[in-house]
Amino acid sequence: MSIVIRAAGPSDVDGIALFLHRQMNDALSPDNWRRIMDYPWHADKPDLGQVAVDGDRIVGFMGKIFADREIGGRTERLCNMSSVYVDADYRRRGIGTGLHEAVTADPDVTYYVFDPSPYVRSVTTHPKLGFRVLDDKRYFWQRSGAARPGIDVAAEPAAILSRLTDGARRLVQDHAPYPVQPYLLQDGGEHCLVFLYRRTSKRGDAQHEALYVGNPELFARYAQAFADWLLADPKAILMVDHRFLRGHPVAAEPQSIPVPRYFKSTRLEAADIDHLYSEIPLLL
Ligand SMILES: CC(C)(COP(=O)(O)OP(=O)(O)OC[C@H]1O[C@@H](n2cnc3c(N)ncnc32)[C@H](O)[C@@H]1OP(=O)(O)O)[C@@H](O)C(=O)NCCC(=O)NCCS
Repeated sequence: MSIVIRAAGPSDVDGIALFLHRQMNDALSPDNWRRIMDYPWHADKPDLGQVAVDGDRIVGFMGKIFADREIGGRTERLCNMSSVYVDADYRRRGIGTGLHEAVTADPDVTYYVFDPSPYVRSVTTHPKLGFRVLDDKRYFWQRSGAARPGIDVAAEPAAILSRLTDGARRLVQDHAPYPVQPYLLQDGGEHCLVFLYRRTSKRGDAQHEALYVGNPELFARYAQAFADWLLADPKAILMVDHRFLRGHPVAAEPQSIPVPRYFKSTRLEAADIDHLYSEIPLLL
């Protein structure tokens, strides 16, 4: 039977969730996998990704997580490509490439992907697909041992919301159901909204990684003070992608990210793209 690659819709959700659970990662339940197709911030999703089928059998999938964002005074549609997987019995027949091509077909949408595994990366970075490096460096901070952190930080969502205007309020509200943490760094009348998510390294150390930095200039000034405020353990780290600081100088040197992130856009620059509204909050 011939393999067809087509847009996934609501009737495919159960089958795709089971496919990803059984074949890609059984540490995530089918309900966990459903989240990448059932996120609440984009009511009229164009589709739920692309699925490859052989008759009734699902043999491949790539998820599309859409968000309409206000960037540079315009509404831009972003799409985080997530959870690409081809059934092992069907590999090396062009399905992975076909899924990439079908997913990234709209030139008005900005596509981006994090942490592709090595084989996925060999597909994503093929020149014919037109992807560029989104970021390949990030900054790391640890506690400096300063007696008193010199920054005023709000961490309670209610306190943060009371100080924000509409666009930034929406970011906090849209992410409230997810295990990502907003912080508001404050300096007199200026502030910087930051979102972090926390994971634990193989050695058991806390890693706080930035999804968003709203005011790069203020953040760059107070990055070490924020790390001193945030990090209880001397081995814990704060990590921020290089592009998030938009060239504002900091004392730290950026280090290479083991697997670069990639994007494809005719409309946006790398620094315009953050990690909110992506698979990170949905799959944590
Ligand atoms: C990566 C993956 C999607 C590729 O799917 P696929 O249908 O085999 O891809 P294609 O047939 O379109 O391969 C395109 C090219 O990618 C490269 N490639 C793909 N798989 C490869 C492999 N196992 N070894 C070397 N190169 C490979 C080759 O250059 C290939 O072209 P070629 O077959 O003409 O040499 C599939 O192997 C897969 O699902 N792997 C596991 C995915 C995964 O771990 N996802 C985790 C989250 S990122």
